[in-house]
Amino acid sequence: MARFRDHLLNLDAESRRDRFNGFVDDAFICSYVQRSFENGASVIGYVEGDRVRGAAELHERPEDAEPTAEIAFSVERPLQNCGIGGKLFQRLIQQARGFGYRRLLVTTHRDNLAMRALARRYNARLSFEDGETVGVIDLPEDPEAFAYLAVRPGADAVASVPR
Ligand SMILES: CC(C)(COP(=O)(O)OP(=O)(O)OC[C@H]1O[C@@H](n2cnc3c(N)ncnc32)[C@H](O)[C@@H]1OP(=O)(O)O)[C@@H](O)C(=O)NCCC(=O)NCCS
Repeated sequence: MARFRDHLLNLDAESRRDRFNGFVDDAFICSYVQRSFENGASVIGYVEGDRVRGAAELHERPEDAEPTAEIAFSVERPLQNCGIGGKLFQRLIQQARGFGYRRLLVTTHRDNLAMRALARRYNARLSFEDGETVGVIDLPEDPEAFAYLAVRPGADAVASVPR
């Protein structure tokens, strides 16, 4: 949890704004991380040495009738555009399918071209309703994902908090 928090605190101003869809201060990030772990979020980390430098998050939305999760990605600026976000995206989608989610929500602005490129690369349909800041990714069923998770449980996971 501490390494994930430090990673989010380390994001440059623009990446932090894109990640949280607006300005947030350090105190917000600290309580956000605490809340996420208390609520059983899964965090997949890209780790260098002892530091988390990138993360993919999966937050359940128990209030939705259809199995839905909110996801988010962050890669520290010096490492952006090196393919790390793509690898995190791929891993998170497998995890989400394994959990049985059919719909994933991404809160960001519609001009987040890097996020749109990620979704496109993995054939995920990311769409925004007019004026909305929540993108929807519809996941087609993929039975292969269960086999994959069965043979590689939790590989590279920094933190996977059971519900
Ligand atoms: C979104 C983010 C996680 C992507 O991580 P990354 O490690 O840079 O991702 P990758 O290197 O795998 O891929 C980046 C893609 O974005 C594209 N991209 C980056 N900046 C772009 C821009 N300004 N215009 C168009 N495409 C852009 C790259 O070309 C690449 O796509 P391609 O492989 O199809 O060419 C990273 O940019 C980030 O942390 N941004 C700040 C937080 C954020 O916006 N999170 C998403 C919302 S929760």
